[in-house]
This record gives sequence, C-alpha cells and structure tokens, in this order.
Amino acid sequence: MKPFLEVKNLTVSFPTEDGLVRASNDISFTVARGETLAVVGESGSGKSVTSLAVMGLHNRKSAIINGEAILNLPTGPVDTISAAPDVVRKLRGKSMAMIFQDPMSALHPYYTIGDQISEAWKLYNEGSKQDGIKRAVEMLDLVGIPAAAKRVKEFPHQFSGGMRQRVMIAMALVNNPSLLIADEPTTALDVTVQSQILQLLRDMQKEFNMAVILITHDLGVVAEVADRACVMYAGKIVEQSNINEIYYKPDHPYSIGLLNSIPRLDQMEGRRLQAIPGQPPSLISLPAGCSFRARCTYSKLVPNNRCATEVPDLNEKFTGHFSRCHLTEAQLTEARTSLGATS
Ligand SMILES: Nc1ncnc2c1ncn2[C@@H]1O[C@H](COP(=O)(O)OP(=O)(O)OP(=O)(O)O)[C@@H](O)[C@H]1O
Ligand SMILES: [Mg+2]
Repeated sequence: MKPFLEVKNLTVSFPTEDGLVRASNDISFTVARGETLAVVGESGSGKSVTSLAVMGLHNRKSAIINGEAILNLPTGPVDTISAAPDVVRKLRGKSMAMIFQDPMSALHPYYTIGDQISEAWKLYNEGSKQDGIKRAVEMLDLVGIPAAAKRVKEFPHQFSGGMRQRVMIAMALVNNPSLLIADEPTTALDVTVQSQILQLLRDMQKEFNMAVILITHDLGVVAEVADRACVMYAGKIVEQSNINEIYYKPDHPYSIGLLNSIPRLDQMEGRRLQAIPGQPPSLISLPAGCSFRARCTYSKLVPNNRCATEVPDLNEKFTGHFSRCHLTEAQLTEARTSLGATS
C-alpha cells in the first residue's frame, strides 16, 4: 500500500525585491498512516513553508511552488500542489489538518472554545449547535482538559499555554483527519508539559491511525515519539532516516551539531553542550557547494575543496539512511566519535 502522503521534489520560492528566496528546495518524503515523521531544523530552515505548501495555504500570487504533495485518499490520489484551490480547501480539516505554530493567532479571542471546536466540526457534519458543543466536550475530554463541560464555555485567554495547545489538538482532530501536521506544538511550553503534549499526540495518533508530521527545532524532544526524521538545513533535507539511527548514529555534520547542542539522558556525564557556531546562509544567495560548509568542522577533511564547489547529493549511505555530505565513512566515524566527547 502506498504511504498516505508522498511529497516529491517540492520547491517553494518567494520572489522579493532583494531576489528569489529559496525557502524549500527539492524536498521529498513520505508519511504512512500510523507513522510519525519528525521534521527538524533551525529557525528559517523551511519547515513551516514546506508544511504550508502541503496544506495548500500559500498565497499562489507570492509563492512559486513546484513538485507534488500527493494524498493517497480512498477515492484516489490528489496532488495538493496542482489541484484546484476548491478541491484542496475541502481536504483541509478532514483529510489533512494542521496545528499552527502560534496557538493564539489560530484561536479567535472573542469566541468560546466550544463555539470554535463546534464550528470546525460543523464543516464536515450535519447537526445542531448543541451537537457541536457536545462533540467539543468529548474532544476536550479526550485531550485531557479537566471539567470539559464547564471549560467549553470559556475563552482562549482563560487557558494556560499547555491547555491552549491541547485545545488546538482537539480542534485539529475533531474531524478525524488522516494526516496531522503539528508545527512546533511544544516550543513555548515547559519541559513537563512538553512531554505530556507529545505523549498526547502519540496517543491520538494510535487512536485515529493518523499520519503525523511533527515539526520541531529540538531533535531531543521528538526522539521518543517519532518513527523517522528529516533534518532540514537552509531549505534542503540534509539527512533522512529512522529516528534511532539519526539519534544514535547521525551521519550529517549538521545533525551531529544539533545533537551536540541538546542535553541527552544517555550521555549526561562529562559532556559539555556546544552550540553550532555561525549562521545559516542567505536563502537568496546560497553558496556554490554545500550550504553547511561555512559552519562545518569536518569539511577540511574532504579533498579537492569539493565542499566549496560541489553540492552534495542526498545519498543512501546505509539502507534507508540518506545523507547529503561528501565525507567518507571513515571520516564520519571520526565525526560521530566526537559526539558526546568532552571538550
Ligand atoms: N512569504 C514569504 N516571503 C519571503 N520569504 C519567506 C516567506 N515565508 C517564509 N519566508 C522565508 O522562508 C524561510 C523559511 O521559513 P520557515 O517559516 O519555513 O522557517 P521554519 O523552519 O519554520 O523556522 P521556525 O523554526 O523559525 O518556525 C525563512 O527565511 C523565511 O524568512
Ligand atoms: Mg516555522
């Protein structure tokens, strides 16, 4: 059976006065139902732009989009990039839903939580307002909001950050979507609430057998809940594999850098956290070779200055493990050994 979502060579660029911003560059990945794909990368790496393209939410007058994002629906495949806006609009909410990065801007301040969830439900269901509110209470209950029948009458500002995020999840799931894209669902939350929300997403995924894309800048927080991961850098996927391989055997120097910069329970002793020095390149004028070269500790190991002149391909280094890097296996082993070493 085909995976529910197949993204193929997706490219999103924005023409601006300063030049063309290449925000997502030749992105390909798949997500099956029952599977969680983590999309990981620093701010500005193209995570949200890629997801908004899949959801058909870019303004097509200001974004140039190429490639495909195919939803394999029971009625047949639909490419959300080339399908008519009306067709894509009808898929949102039910076939695919998104939890947006900023919950306060996605929730309307003047309507009760119950009204907002009920409105989302009514897009795909026949029923009275009462039926909608009843469904909203069920959903709030399901996502672990205590006293749901009372809280359904409250407004967004009366909820804490963690509870608001649960409301967003309830609203996104009200029509049992087949695909859920959660854009940084835990970034603004403290660590305990973060892990509760991720666990909730995991439980909901099992309950509804959803395909889930979990967007984050923190590879550490998703290691427990994701099945596979794509690491993005400057608009491109630089590494893609199952989550354990990326977490324990990262192949790309950027992933190694990301892992060096987060606390890890399995390597607490004698390890100092190291931020990756420098900044990503401008998406308007990407460098000639590897986009990560200027920040890469290992590029000098690659002969003939290839990192500066030749864009590395996303190669399958091991079965199912892809990496966009010129380093040889021996050089990578050395790079990996330094992960977790004291400095
Ligand atoms: N409408 C637009 N016009 C021009 N540039 C844009 C537009 N939307 C996004 N960009 C640029 O595209 C790049 C990728 O943005 P995106 O929002 O996908 O990053 P992100 O990986 O989601 O980052 P964050 O972790 O901060 O949310 C950024 O450099 C951003 O400034
Ligand atoms: Mg984003």
